[in-house]
Amino acid sequence: MKVKVSRKAHFNAAHRLYNKDWSFEKNDAVFGKCNNPKFHGHNYDLIVSVTGEIDPETGYVMDMKVLKDLIKEEVEEAFDHKNLNMDVAEFAELNPTAENIAVVIWNKLRPHINTANEIEVVLYETPRNFVTYSG
Ligand code: NI
Repeated sequence: MKVKVSRKAHFNAAHRLYNKDWSFEKNDAVFGKCNNPKFHGHNYDLIVSVTGEIDPETGYVMDMKVLKDLIKEEVEEAFDHKNLNMDVAEFAELNPTAENIAVVIWNKLRPHINTANEIEVVLYETPRNFVTYSG
């Protein structure tokens, strides 16, 4: 019997979407306002879900306090109020789209969560645009 438990979190960050191998014109055509060289910000909402068996001793799939602290350490402290392109090593060469941010978050969390459990990351870049990565 598997149960999915989820924790919501939030961070604000700036980014610019572009491909350094393309001309400004091509970047502008593909990424539009998101190619603004002066960057722009988003209020990201994050939902991290962990799916697994209920531990018969605790009744938990995962202690939510542990998950909360893990998201705080690995995601919020690394990304909140940062310029993703300039301040976060993972995006030095990787375009910080919602897709890539979700994959980076999943990769940062995976080593810290019981390997018997599955992880899903849902990242909202706007209230209407969100991406999902499950590994
Ligand atoms: Ni953007």
